[in-house]
Amino acid sequence: MERKQFLRSLGAGAAFALTFPCLHGCSKDEIDGNLEEVPTGVDFTVDLTSQEAQALATNGGFILKNLVVVARNLQGEYVAASQVCSHESYDQVRFVNQDGGIFYCDVHGSRFGQDGTPLNKVDSKPARALKVFNTELDGSLLRVFE
Ligand code: FES
Repeated sequence: MERKQFLRSLGAGAAFALTFPCLHGCSKDEIDGNLEEVPTGVDFTVDLTSQEAQALATNGGFILKNLVVVARNLQGEYVAASQVCSHESYDQVRFVNQDGGIFYCDVHGSRFGQDGTPLNKVDSKPARALKVFNTELDGSLLRVFE
């Protein structure tokens, strides 16, 4: 069965739903995430030997803590950014293994470099930088701070 026939067999409503999922008009109920404030006054440590830091044992891994994405980039360095997206404040920013490692929000597809620079524009609003944080390693303690 060809795509056109398949869509026709589903009916117009289902075909639209399959073809145009959530075109920037998603209601809050359809989005997997919460609206949050960008974290401020960030200063915490992560014990890299602890259970919570397990994902940081491998390059490309990340954890979420205090609305911050703490990641070990593909070169093995630690980077951190706000989990709260600069686009519409959903807490869905994650570190992904794309283009050498970027921060990505799947709500509307915003992409950010590891320094927070916006890499794309998802609507007519100006793309804003993602807040990033400093990291400092002292033995097995990783400090994340502003
Ligand atoms: S909230 Fe829109 S891309 Fe993140």
